[in-house]
Amino acid sequence: MQDFITLCQNRRSIRKYQDRPIEQEHLDYILQCALMSPAGKRCNEWEFYVVTDVDKLRTLKGCRTYGSGMFETAMAAIVVALDANKIDTWQCDGAIAAHNILLAAEDRGIGACWCHVYNREGAEELVKKVVNVPQELTILCVIALGYKDEERKQYDLTKLPYEKVHQD
Ligand SMILES: Cc1cc2nc3c(=O)[nH]c(=O)nc-3n(C[C@H](O)[C@H](O)[C@H](O)COP(=O)(O)O)c2cc1C
Repeated sequence: MQDFITLCQNRRSIRKYQDRPIEQEHLDYILQCALMSPAGKRCNEWEFYVVTDVDKLRTLKGCRTYGSGMFETAMAAIVVALDANKIDTWQCDGAIAAHNILLAAEDRGIGACWCHVYNREGAEELVKKVVNVPQELTILCVIALGYKDEERKQYDLTKLPYEKVHQD
């Protein structure tokens, strides 16, 4: 495993993927990391729906008019859904789990990208048509996954926006 700061530097949004399935072992690892996410009041309201069916993945591209192009080549996806009525931290809980997924994917050399669904017109309806997510759950995002087919520069530690840090 890369050390944590290198992992953070290397994690970039990858939107183009090779035509190569992701091994179940890697998906299981990524999901284990998601299931260890911290959540408000330890309510763990998230549910994760894994999609590997290529026809379904390609259909997900239509959930947005832009911002969902990664599903043209994605080889897997994880839908992050929560019951928004159960806990007021649901968006934070879902976002933390989604970020664990992004980092775990990078840790396994797999590219990933967040496709936002919540509050995006028509997106949730389309995802719910494709994936068997109960109506009462709210979909925060779908994380697209696949072996990288594009190069992204790693973050340069000398060029981070340090002015955003306010100490004492
Ligand atoms: C809350 C959130 C929503 C995002 N939604 C989308 C999206 O709908 N489509 C997309 O292509 N990327 C999406 N992204 C990825 C961002 O565009 C990306 O993280 C940002 O440009 C920084 O680039 P990096 O991930 O390579 O560091 C989203 C990221 C976050 C955190």
